[in-house]
Amino acid sequence: MKWFKIVFIGCIFVFHGRVNAQEQPSTNNATVFPDRVMLSISGNPASERAVSWRTSAGVAVSLGQIAKASEGPFFSENIATVNGTSSFWEEGDASALGHKVVFDNLSPNTTYTYRVGNGDNWSEWFQFTTSSANTEPFHFLYLGDFQNDIKQHCSRLIRQAYSHFPDAEFVLMAGDLVSRSNEDYWSEFFHAGDWIYATIPTMATPGNHEYHSENDTRVFSKHWNQIFVNPQNGPEGLENKSFYVDYQGVRFVSFDSPATGYYNDARINTEKWFHEVLANNPNKWTVVFTHYPVYSCSQGRDNEDYRKVVQPILEKYGVDLVLQGHDHTYCRGQNLENVGENCKNPPMYMVSVAGPKMYGLNVNRWSERAGSQIQLYQNISVDGNKIKVDVYTVTGELYDSFSLEKNKKGINKVIESPEISKIRELTQIPENAKDRYTEEEKSLYRERFEK
Ligand SMILES: [Fe+2]
Repeated sequence: MKWFKIVFIGCIFVFHGRVNAQEQPSTNNATVFPDRVMLSISGNPASERAVSWRTSAGVAVSLGQIAKASEGPFFSENIATVNGTSSFWEEGDASALGHKVVFDNLSPNTTYTYRVGNGDNWSEWFQFTTSSANTEPFHFLYLGDFQNDIKQHCSRLIRQAYSHFPDAEFVLMAGDLVSRSNEDYWSEFFHAGDWIYATIPTMATPGNHEYHSENDTRVFSKHWNQIFVNPQNGPEGLENKSFYVDYQGVRFVSFDSPATGYYNDARINTEKWFHEVLANNPNKWTVVFTHYPVYSCSQGRDNEDYRKVVQPILEKYGVDLVLQGHDHTYCRGQNLENVGENCKNPPMYMVSVAGPKMYGLNVNRWSERAGSQIQLYQNISVDGNKIKVDVYTVTGELYDSFSLEKNKKGINKVIESPEISKIRELTQIPENAKDRYTEEEKSLYRERFEK
């Protein structure tokens, strides 16, 4: 009897061990009920939003319903129903439909409630607020690469960021949202953010992992255009990837750097468009978000060819802030030693990472502040002549903080927040990157980061 008990309890342990050790499959199949609901800024942010979602293949009708949000559930008299479109959801043999609807003619500074579905099966009601039509203070979140282990490690990052700043007006993502654009990765991506994506819009720029090779040709993610509905004001061939949005006094420009070809990918000439978008900009501020760093901060990386072309453009038009990804480390600085002679307003460059893939920092000296092996999110506030950037670790602790204060000539002064001097830089080289440093680099690394 005792023997039986021991075996039985042992079996329970083994069974439990197995269940706990196994990763739950991430792919979930589409059903007749809408899922993967994503809110985008598709045009004028004061008057337009778009929504995408997914269902099983038999759900041929795409509808959105929208009403000005009321204090309670009785808004049915005010509901407008809008027809959307659908197309096959691209994923090998998977059978699903991707749907989209655009809500336009909205009023500025107004909270709306909406749902999507086919008339029989609906999502829950979500709500969002349109932007002001004027220049007014606001703040937004910026996230570096998610890329890998998204369910396991990016879920807490995006939930922490949203919980910390639930009234952020949108989330800006700097590329490599997924490591591979397939059903498994997007399933994890939507698991992590879930209804947050349906509540505040996401503005994302592609990373190199949104591209893949097919027969020696670079092919763009088919999911991207089904998920994101960005303004169609990009250069020919890069619509929905490169684009810009004017938001309450700031021009946000997504520059699809992997498509430029300066960094091993298929080349599409976007310089002309980039010049035009930056030259004809009536806003006080300009923020460029792009995947490849102008100045790298990871060991063994330096995008020299890319920098030669892009840096002069950013400097010529006095871009204020350049938000980047790709390097799986954190760096921030203006690199004043390398600014061109005619540059009046040196851009502030930032490289960041939100996901768990970690690289080692390189030994360049351009960054005023750096970090490695930390997952970060940024809250960026815009208020008149001031942009404030606050960088937090996934645990919600402040890691970096500074302001750009613009004078009457349009030139920014960088002011570091005083509390930063008390926060230690976290710059340990990841174990798997230690072999990549020469002895000389290790010595330079100690000099720069381990003072
Ligand atoms: Fe990446």
